Amino acid sequence: MKNLMDDTNGVLISREEISAVVKRLGKEISADYEGKTPIMVSILKGAFIFMADLVREVTVPCSIDFMCVSSYGSGAETSGRVKIIKDLDTNIDGKDVIIVEDILDSGVTLSHLIKLLSARNPNSIKVCTLFDKPERHKVEINPAYKGLDVPNEFIVGYGLDYAEQYRNLPDVCVLKPEIYA
Ligand code: IMP
Ligand code: MG
Repeated sequence: MKNLMDDTNGVLISREEISAVVKRLGKEISADYEGKTPIMVSILKGAFIFMADLVREVTVPCSIDFMCVSSYGSGAETSGRVKIIKDLDTNIDGKDVIIVEDILDSGVTLSHLIKLLSARNPNSIKVCTLFDKPERHKVEINPAYKGLDVPNEFIVGYGLDYAEQYRNLPDVCVLKPEIYA
């Protein structure tokens, strides 16, 4: 029987390491938003597992919402375009928004999102990304909260996909280049 792990070069970041990082991010957010009620906006689909774990580490009151955008199609390279597939349900006028993203790569997705959401008049917008590939940035984005820098390799698991697969791997793994070549 084929195992999902067979398509990977093994675990890059274990579930235990991820859990420690998510706890740290939750503490940082809780300290910074003391006395506020932020709205945490998860970017589907990649951030769904991160979001679920992160909100449980946040101790201030908060609300949650989801946006679904797509820039990659099914490939491993950004198309440079961001399509809104599902918009927010809530009005963010005057709200403190925290965008919860799985991984910052070129920065194209986040820069589009920040522009789009800023136009809706929130009180503040900050970005919380679990992973960052600093070598790949094309647009300058400074996430207020960042989990870990990762090397310039295609990673899957803990919500991150390749062609909609591998999101269910509990650890973050490096996908074998021959899978997306
Ligand atoms: P950006 O617009 O180039 O920053 O792309 C960000 C999006 O690309 C992320 O939200 C992911 O969905 C996807 N992405 C970038 N790098 C990876 C990766 O290594 N594995 C899985 N998805 C990735
Ligand atoms: Mg994706």
